[in-house]
Amino acid sequence: MTDHGFETLALHAGQEPDPLTGSVVPPIYQVSTYAQDGVGGLRNGYEYSRSGNPTRHALEQCLAALEAGTDGFAFASGLAAEDTLLRAVCAPGDHVVIPDDAYGGTYRLFAAVMSRWGVEWTSARLSDVESVRAAMRPNTRVLWVETPTNPLLNIADIAALADVAHAGGALLAVDNTFASPYLQQPLTLGADVVVHSTTKYIGGHSDVIGGALVAATPELAEKLGYHQNAMGAVAGPFDAWITLRGVKTLPVRMDRHCANAAAVVELLQRHRRVTQVFYPGLPDHPNHDVAARQMSQFGGMVSFRVEGGEEAAVEVVNSARLFTLAESLGGVESLIEHPGRMTHASAAGSPLEVPGDLVRLSVGLETIDDLLADLEQALSH
Ligand SMILES: Cc1ncc(COP(=O)(O)O)c(C=O)c1O
Repeated sequence: MTDHGFETLALHAGQEPDPLTGSVVPPIYQVSTYAQDGVGGLRNGYEYSRSGNPTRHALEQCLAALEAGTDGFAFASGLAAEDTLLRAVCAPGDHVVIPDDAYGGTYRLFAAVMSRWGVEWTSARLSDVESVRAAMRPNTRVLWVETPTNPLLNIADIAALADVAHAGGALLAVDNTFASPYLQQPLTLGADVVVHSTTKYIGGHSDVIGGALVAATPELAEKLGYHQNAMGAVAGPFDAWITLRGVKTLPVRMDRHCANAAAVVELLQRHRRVTQVFYPGLPDHPNHDVAARQMSQFGGMVSFRVEGGEEAAVEVVNSARLFTLAESLGGVESLIEHPGRMTHASAAGSPLEVPGDLVRLSVGLETIDDLLADLEQALSH
């Protein structure tokens, strides 16, 4: 199917009508084990649902097609996917370079968990290729990229960082959660593996937690598949099914997320109480050129700083009515949060701490005038 367009792949890759019944969507194979035709006589390779499940395979094949990779792997959460990747490719004594504004949970995984198992890390400003090069060590095994980053929406040049990683003998892993494969395909820019919290844009409806890895090569895919089974943090059949249902509309949702976000940015830019707007689509964003080169649109996430410091930012967040005060992002409904006290609280006091006056928006699919009116009133308190 690889010669088809993105929308076609979202609807059909891995989703042939069920051979038994013709069901046009993959059924939920809510099953743990499979009858064998004599010892070792597996039907279509299915043996036990941790090792493989048809509903999960449908999602995995679809994600692999959308990210232009060889194989996809679906997990119980984005962090489970990250953990599996790291334990598949790193060993004690290895070193990893991570973004200096990584997602808080990713930072915690490195700082509080992986470090206890002997994996060292350094944070670097990924928008500055030279400082990433300087952070590389002879034992660097992975260069970990988020772009756009969460919550400051910094942009990293994936192709340039692939060169840095490969020159140092490391893998380039790109967390593509914020952009989704509809806006950006890191494997086509030289990355070795893509990471997703499918909880966000891929699932898209705030109703399931999930994660995914997509490998660029069969060699890496084999390692990831081995560890997915050996570690066991797989996506369950229902979670895989509902995530795949979300994937089908990813292209049309992303188009509207991007259009609504652009209108929100316009309002924020001219608002007297907003001191800074973070959005890669702005011509004065420091890496706007890179974003324009590697993304087809600029995404649905917007962050901004509010005049009056942390308390003022908290008040804005508390005053929003249509924007729901909640963690997470990428769902059809708009969300607002205070990163310093919510998603990024675990980075407090570290080099990854975020400004106290920062507000983050996940701009959803509501009527744009309603969203703008809500922001106006939240900022007027
Ligand atoms: C960029 C990014 N990566 C990874 C994760 C972790 O994913 P999950 O919450 O599905 O474990 C998140 C969660 O917010 C995220 O925003």
